Amino acid sequence: MAANMAELNTGNKMPVVGLGTGAPAVQYEEIKAAVHAALKIGYRFFDTASCYGSEGALGAALTEAFQSGVVKREEVFVLTKLWDDEHDDPLAAITKSLKNLQLEYLDLYLLHWPVRLRKGHTLPPKEEDFLPLDIKSTWQGMEKCFELRLTKAIGVSNFSCKKIEDLLKYAKIPPAANQVEMHPMWQQKKLREYCSKMKIQVCAWSPLGAPKTPWGSNAVMDSPVIKEIAQKHGKSIAQVVLRWAIEQGVCVIPKSFNKGRITENFQVFDWCLTTEDHAKMSKLEQSKNMKGEDLVNSTTSPYRTIEELWDGEI
Ligand SMILES: NC(=O)c1ccc[n+]([C@@H]2O[C@H](COP(=O)([O-])OP(=O)(O)OC[C@H]3O[C@@H](n4cnc5c(N)ncnc54)[C@H](OP(=O)(O)O)[C@@H]3O)[C@@H](O)[C@H]2O)c1
Repeated sequence: MAANMAELNTGNKMPVVGLGTGAPAVQYEEIKAAVHAALKIGYRFFDTASCYGSEGALGAALTEAFQSGVVKREEVFVLTKLWDDEHDDPLAAITKSLKNLQLEYLDLYLLHWPVRLRKGHTLPPKEEDFLPLDIKSTWQGMEKCFELRLTKAIGVSNFSCKKIEDLLKYAKIPPAANQVEMHPMWQQKKLREYCSKMKIQVCAWSPLGAPKTPWGSNAVMDSPVIKEIAQKHGKSIAQVVLRWAIEQGVCVIPKSFNKGRITENFQVFDWCLTTEDHAKMSKLEQSKNMKGEDLVNSTTSPYRTIEELWDGEI
């Protein structure tokens, strides 16, 4: 039976199921209600990022929950991320995020993408929005945030094995986690093996394949193979998919602002998949949803091609 907490290389514990709060449109009250519902259901891990616009609503809901005694600060795990236009000054960026979240410290602070953009950039970024990348100096800023105890751990997101390997050559503090796209249609086998060897916790974003979003697809939720496994266990497709990830030691952050689906996504602890289920799922056709086409160009991006962005791991 997979445990409901993962241990980071800092010694701190991280819940294996968290609530994602990154969504196509930011709805303050809807996010607040989702966080309150999630806390009631038992979620103790919340994923946000400075670029999502959800830090404020998450912070407001958590503050209310602390004040009303629903939960204590030390019982929740809060993760936010340094955006691409904040590489210059991670200390200023974390200070801003902490203010939005109304918190004194984070549990995990991630370098969101191995890409640096100028302030005022558009999304997707234009050619003139890209700045030269200097991950070493950005990571030193992240380390400073850790040393000042503004966060209990630091990590990366959307990093390939090669990028982690490069980072480990100079990092004083190794990353505690790597948050990447992972679901049955993009299983990340090589990256998971490498991260496990390096004691870096993998956390899956788009764990359901991000159905109904501009960046995702319905391939996971529509899979006949997964549907059959779900029917056999009397579970939903989402539950099978989340259980599949956590049985492989990966943390998941499914996003839902719907109380029924938030509840469903947390009911993944008292049952398990079989070896046969895993064997079937390991054969599913692989295709990454968010390839990062917008982050490559032939002039200003550090990456000329998608293969360069992912170091061939695509
Ligand atoms: N580090 C990164 O670069 C990065 C990138 C993308 C996302 N993220 C993080 O990862 C989180 C999750 O990823 P994601 O939002 O891309 O994808 P996801 O969690 O795989 O999918 C979200 C979609 O699934 C639906 N859904 C949720 N539970 C469901 C269920 N039980 N049955 C059917 N549909 C369900 C949601 O709709 P409803 O809300 O209507 O339920 C929403 O449309 C984000 O919120 C964000 O916090 C990180």
